[in-house]
Amino acid sequence: MLEKDIQEVLFSQQQLAERVDQIAQEITRDYAGKEIVLISVLRGSFVFMADLCRRIDLPCTIDFMSVSSYGKGTSSSGQVQITKDLSGDISGKHILVVEDILDSGNTLSYLLKLLEQRAPASIRLCTLLDKPERRVKPVEVHYSGFTIPDAFVVGYGLDYAEHYRNLPYIGILKPEVYGG
Ligand code: IMP
Ligand code: MG
Repeated sequence: MLEKDIQEVLFSQQQLAERVDQIAQEITRDYAGKEIVLISVLRGSFVFMADLCRRIDLPCTIDFMSVSSYGKGTSSSGQVQITKDLSGDISGKHILVVEDILDSGNTLSYLLKLLEQRAPASIRLCTLLDKPERRVKPVEVHYSGFTIPDAFVVGYGLDYAEHYRNLPYIGILKPEVYGG
């Protein structure tokens, strides 16, 4: 019943699983001998985080942060608000921020600056999707799953007005759903 709102499937469950596996292998190699803190930016990254962390073969801890920059629309407001902060101290630790999608860059440029002030040993960004055409603020990306065109996508954690997060694949939402 959710499929009726999807214009086109961009990444199937299998494509997502294969790419997540490759990224996890890269991370495992790059951080060999180190312990990392995976920070999931809620809510969009919860599915990616759950799959990614289980493919990483390193000692790691998990923490969550919640920010809001969107209302019910499909473009960033530019105003970023922390609605839930980390539970743990990150000073002296290797931080990997896990995001669902990098769009304008407003959310992540704000978030990464904030986390840098807490003196981690290192900080890197892992995003499942990247829409470079939409970038307003520059953001350095270390691990990126897929580069996508400027279209509004849902599924695998990504939402429109809090819905469609439970779709097992990533698809382009039909513009008529959001009045586009
Ligand atoms: P930015 O601040 O514009 O980079 O927006 C980042 C946030 O916007 C992401 O974490 C998502 O929550 C949301 N977002 C951006 N593009 C999409 C999309 O195509 N589908 C669903 N959410 C999106
Ligand atoms: Mg979101």
